Amino acid sequence: MAELRDAGLIRHLGLSSVTPEHLAEAQAIAPVVCVQNWYGLDKRLADVNGLLDSCREQGIAFVPFFAISGHQREAAAGDTHDEAVVEIARAHGATPAQVRLAWTLHRGPHVLAIPGTSKPDHLAENIAAGALRLSQTDLDRLQAIPHGDA
Ligand SMILES: NC(=O)c1ccc[n+]([C@@H]2O[C@H](COP(=O)([O-])OP(=O)(O)OC[C@H]3O[C@@H](n4cnc5c(N)ncnc54)[C@H](OP(=O)(O)O)[C@@H]3O)[C@@H](O)[C@H]2O)c1
Repeated sequence: MAELRDAGLIRHLGLSSVTPEHLAEAQAIAPVVCVQNWYGLDKRLADVNGLLDSCREQGIAFVPFFAISGHQREAAAGDTHDEAVVEIARAHGATPAQVRLAWTLHRGPHVLAIPGTSKPDHLAENIAAGALRLSQTDLDRLQAIPHGDA
């Protein structure tokens, strides 16, 4: 891949589902511009949290997948949300999906959103989530949501 990049056939290199060690190994070969890993409100494993912070320090975009659907993964995201998410959404006149996205985005300006949807209404909602500002009280409450492995 580095050779293809040097030949001008690939502009940028990104990694997916990697560990901090993978990132360091790849960076020693060629510059990495983005990392795409599973990360969200209910999936905040310590090593991925560290990876996200390390990406910020290295100027690498972090692109979380399953930010809305979480442990439901490819299944329809449905209406199953933690009570705190539902209450915070109600207080902001927002939806639980928007709160989940806003929480992800608050992790840093280098964190991007790639929510998947088949519905134009959800697309509009997801774009609007970029303007949702969570208070420190909201963030503290969301922080307390269980977030272990699947
Ligand atoms: N690199 C990797 O290994 C990897 C792995 C998995 C996924 N991905 C990529 O990550 C992106 C996101 O993945 P994903 O789409 O599976 O997960 P996601 O964005 O977390 O969730 C998508 C699900 O959430 C629903 N949804 C979207 N917006 C909603 C809203 N505003 N309100 C309620 N429900 C909403 C969608 O249903 P509706 O259609 O009904 O809106 C769909 O069921 C995709 O581009 C995917 O290709 C990458």
